[in-house]
Amino acid sequence: MADIEFSELKANIGSEVHGLNLSEPLSEAIRDRLMRELADRCVVLFKAQDITPAQHIDFSRALGPLEEHVLSNFCLPGHPEIFVVSNIVENGRHVGAFGGSKQYHSDLAYNEAPSMGSVFHCLECPEEGGETAIVSMSAAFAALPEERRDWLSKQRAVFDYVWYYEGAHHDRPALSEAQKSRVPPVAHPAVRTHPVNGCPSLFLSEVWVRRFEGVSDDESQKILAEILEFATGPDFTYVHKWAPGDVLVWDNRNSIHKACPFDEEGTRRRMHRTTIKGTAPYFNAAA
Ligand SMILES: [Fe+2]
Repeated sequence: MADIEFSELKANIGSEVHGLNLSEPLSEAIRDRLMRELADRCVVLFKAQDITPAQHIDFSRALGPLEEHVLSNFCLPGHPEIFVVSNIVENGRHVGAFGGSKQYHSDLAYNEAPSMGSVFHCLECPEEGGETAIVSMSAAFAALPEERRDWLSKQRAVFDYVWYYEGAHHDRPALSEAQKSRVPPVAHPAVRTHPVNGCPSLFLSEVWVRRFEGVSDDESQKILAEILEFATGPDFTYVHKWAPGDVLVWDNRNSIHKACPFDEEGTRRRMHRTTIKGTAPYFNAAA
């Protein structure tokens, strides 16, 4: 194995990886080591990576099969695996999807099989703002009172994309019946077991979660807000300040993330993102 080393980004979350050039193929041993680090630390950072889109895709694919984004107009021409996230306008059109969710979520959590993780490569970023905040839902879960952990471990949370969309996006066009039928409500265990290290994590978010099964919407929202207020506190959160060349990989199975605001009119931000397919969440009470 090449000599790779890790250093902590914060006590409870995040590792920077040293000694790896992502333009080179990944050995199986290093891949396994990175997957273990993601399971244990939620997010890994590689600094100063000068990689091409093809190398970004190769690296991501070594971690797992990739999703192709439904908004194909924001995929990189010739590389449908790369989704461009950017506020930049060139020749009168946006080169990528702008914004990014400003509320904590894990990607595609409203699907039966939410995505496993994302690989972001920063090409341009503003001096100020535009950070990505990531929360360790395994560290947050471990720090909850035992009574709360016991209760949550028995719950299933209903992720309802249409309910959230219709409540939150008054400025967006209404969903058609055909679109709605593609995203029916899905119940996931509120605590999920990580398949790599067996650790439990909260599987909840600020968006899409409508209720816990058997609990009213109102009561569920109160409980959810209380848990997320605790989880998203500074102890479990890493806020990544981007620099060009950064590659950040997060694990959607044990973390949630959100984009922080920046001056979208006066500065430029351009990111390339790949998304790794995942599998249905499960909870193993014996672990
Ligand atoms: Fe996301």
